[in-house]
Amino acid sequence: MCGIVGYVGSEPALPILIGGLRRLEYRGYDSAGVAYLEGGGLSVVKRKGRLQRLEEALQRQYGEDLSGGSVRIGIAHTRWATHGAPSDENSHPHLSASGRIAVVHNGIIENYMELRASLSGLGYAFVSETDTEVVAHLIERHYDADAKKDLLSAVLRTMGEIEGSYALGVLCADDPGTFVAARKDSPLVVGLGTNGNFIASDIPAILSRTREVLILEDREAACLRADGVRVVDALGRPVDRAPMHVDWDVEAAEKGGYEHFMMKEMHEEPRAVRDTLAPRLRDGAIRLDAITIDAADAAAISKVQIIACGTAYHAGVVAKYAIERLARIPVEVDVASEFRYRDPLVDARTLAVVISQSGETLDTMAAMREAKRRGARTLAIVNVVGSSIAREADDVLYTMAGPEIAVASTKAYNTQLAAVYLLAFRLAALRGLLDEAACAGWSERLLALPEALDRILADRSVLQRFAAEHFNARSVFFIGRGLDYALSMEGSLKLKEISYIHSEAYAGGELKHGTIALIEEGTLVVCPLTQAPLLEKMIGNIREVKARGAVVLGIATDSCAKVDEVCDAVFRIPDVDPLLAPVLAVTPMQLFAYYVAVNKGCDVDKPRNLAKSVTVE
Ligand code: F6R
Repeated sequence: MCGIVGYVGSEPALPILIGGLRRLEYRGYDSAGVAYLEGGGLSVVKRKGRLQRLEEALQRQYGEDLSGGSVRIGIAHTRWATHGAPSDENSHPHLSASGRIAVVHNGIIENYMELRASLSGLGYAFVSETDTEVVAHLIERHYDADAKKDLLSAVLRTMGEIEGSYALGVLCADDPGTFVAARKDSPLVVGLGTNGNFIASDIPAILSRTREVLILEDREAACLRADGVRVVDALGRPVDRAPMHVDWDVEAAEKGGYEHFMMKEMHEEPRAVRDTLAPRLRDGAIRLDAITIDAADAAAISKVQIIACGTAYHAGVVAKYAIERLARIPVEVDVASEFRYRDPLVDARTLAVVISQSGETLDTMAAMREAKRRGARTLAIVNVVGSSIAREADDVLYTMAGPEIAVASTKAYNTQLAAVYLLAFRLAALRGLLDEAACAGWSERLLALPEALDRILADRSVLQRFAAEHFNARSVFFIGRGLDYALSMEGSLKLKEISYIHSEAYAGGELKHGTIALIEEGTLVVCPLTQAPLLEKMIGNIREVKARGAVVLGIATDSCAKVDEVCDAVFRIPDVDPLLAPVLAVTPMQLFAYYVAVNKGCDVDKPRNLAKSVTVE
């Protein structure tokens, strides 16, 4: 996601801020900016594109090493676009109406539309499309109304009004010696230095300056001065927390202390799924404001054509089950490289849904153009705002996974599924197949997914042990029925791409038509078992492979006791509606693949022969 750095102290601030942003560059960003105080005035410099552009703009004023002038306090940001395309205007910091308060923000303000509407009604003008700008205005409103003019109180009051996730840095022109930080559901640390104090969204940003950090907890705020830091809770009560000494090297810090980016990114899944769902599920209703399909359009759709590659294609297979079941529209799913050349039956009544994490995959892009050429309306489910596919599609539904660095896709898949469900529910509602009460029920079930993912990640040692016993497998089969089959495809891909073990996904009922010939003594079979109506059939399939010597790992919900007697080991996931189960059940498969690859000594984050973004045919 975006990066934040802040500093107040006795050293020139700009080299510290820009140096800190540079350490966060590996995470990806599309624009960068800084706000600082000098001579009683607040300045903001921000640029779309590389950090270099921002640095060059500052160098013209402050010299090559940025240490000219007398800047000793500032906040800085690298943005990964979520609300609004990458642009100078949408970059952070954002200013309040009077220009006296500057804000940098990571995360998503879920109720920003409501807040923006009410602030507009009060006469506030907005210069960006971001959710962050409302925060700057709200803080200033509270600040102006406060006789004591206390920035920290204004931030605390604002925290009471905003919903969603945030890490904030706030600077006010009236107090050149102080800035304020706050967080909820988005990481932020305070660094304690000898010549000043820092904030950072990620430890690598400040590691060269200090190793003493205070981790801010949810709904806490901090007031930073050169000579000290005061942390308070949401009610303004002091929090007394001992600093933590960080002994990670920069490489470990970039991975958030995990051994690999892949593990870090799996741990981001609860946040990523919440950020994808929560802003669109408000008061029990499904709101996809950016999608222009109305009831008449939805009624006219005769077919949904899904197009994607790799992991995104597997999300598309889940989408087929979900859209057909809920919206009762026939769905075809194609890998993009096949769709392009097969003379597909697509016309003006086709909705082409294109799924891509990067938004730059050449085959997917070309297939989308082909669908358009044949008259289809296009809707892209994409992770990167402003990417080529996002720009060319008629409608875009963004996933909020944040940047993925590990080549093997993990959190992007969970969020693609979240987006796919939102689309399926929306189409169903537009076609009159889902009433308000049903929407509210699904909304509640969807919003419970992040917490369930937290538990799965916390229980991962079960999979670690199982992987340690089985990493020498020569071949692994993933078997499932219904949505469990769709999910098996992704489980199998994850294992083969990072562990180099041959693996196949099969529909449970299809085994006996050939593949069962490959099952022999000790063959490893992984079975997601989340589809209650198909459970008896799956148990039959498991008995078939067990009779031929297979070792079976089941992935089943808590209350599905039946499978214990047929599986050799069972990993439990929280009870969940079968339709939504893939969002949860994929994570144990990702973890299993990860631990197998680690045991085999594979380069988990950079598997051989693979690239993160495939921009060639
Ligand atoms: C697998 C993986 C790839 C991508 C595929 C499509 O872990 O990452 O299979 O899913 O190359 O990429 P996007 O989604 O960027 O179009």
